Amino acid sequence: MVFYFTATGNSLYVAKQLDEERLSIPREMRKENRRYKAGTIGIVCPLFEFEIPRLVKEFIRDSAFEADYFYLVVTYGMHHGGVAQRTQAWLESLGKAADYINTIIMHDNALIVFDMDQQRGVEAEKQVDAHIDAIKSDIAEKKTMIQQAPAEETDFYRHFTEWIRQSGPMYTFPLYRVADGCVGCGTCARVCPRGCVRLADGKPEYDYTHCLSCMACIQACPTKALQFATIREPNPNARYRNPHIALREIIAANQQDPDAGNR
Ligand SMILES: Cc1cc2nc3c(=O)[nH]c(=O)nc-3n(C[C@H](O)[C@H](O)[C@H](O)COP(=O)(O)O)c2cc1C
Repeated sequence: MVFYFTATGNSLYVAKQLDEERLSIPREMRKENRRYKAGTIGIVCPLFEFEIPRLVKEFIRDSAFEADYFYLVVTYGMHHGGVAQRTQAWLESLGKAADYINTIIMHDNALIVFDMDQQRGVEAEKQVDAHIDAIKSDIAEKKTMIQQAPAEETDFYRHFTEWIRQSGPMYTFPLYRVADGCVGCGTCARVCPRGCVRLADGKPEYDYTHCLSCMACIQACPTKALQFATIREPNPNARYRNPHIALREIIAANQQDPDAGNR
């Protein structure tokens, strides 16, 4: 049994290769009294600012897992910053622990830093499939391991947290604006894992209360009419979805309101 959270498909691509029984975290979060029992239970999710996403933390914290083997795989694009060790320490603070935590470098979907067009093709360079195969073997063998971070990775994390401490939050809300090309298709509303978007008079309207800044909405907009409100990104015309994952799979994983996009 593997639980996954994905904004642009990388983590789903990995989860698909690790287990046939896959459950979407945003959908599971709608259930009360979450108790899961299986021989092996895994979590696959992206890295957001050197941490596993808030939603994934809430899911782990407030669910009961009964498994012989519990693992996490975190997908990231540039620097993992030692997230495996930090996540294990956090789990231990909850009285939980993982048998295995590893990371896997993939296409970096951080729109505010990277031009998605320049990132294209990095899958081969980053040897994504070879890394997935190695992790798959580890899990099949029930290997016990928490990835140890080299000093330069923890330095990235330290510098980042110091920078955030000095400069304040990275994102200010409203995060997005709707430009002229919006055709009111509602894709943004359907891919949002937190149900933050609804269509009003045929245009997306945001309630940022629960927004994770995961960027699923801006990445999936078919006309690129969703843009950052204030952040200057490297290429406002380039957007990303994992090439092996269909838009309908991201919608199926994340859609919160079955009527979203139809109002
Ligand atoms: C808000 C945000 C923050 C991110 N922070 C990091 C980071 O700290 N380090 C990193 O290497 N990649 C970072 N990334 C890149 C993603 O972790 C990476 O592309 C991931 O594979 C995306 O997974 P998904 O397609 O399943 O959503 C970030 C992406 C986003 C959208």
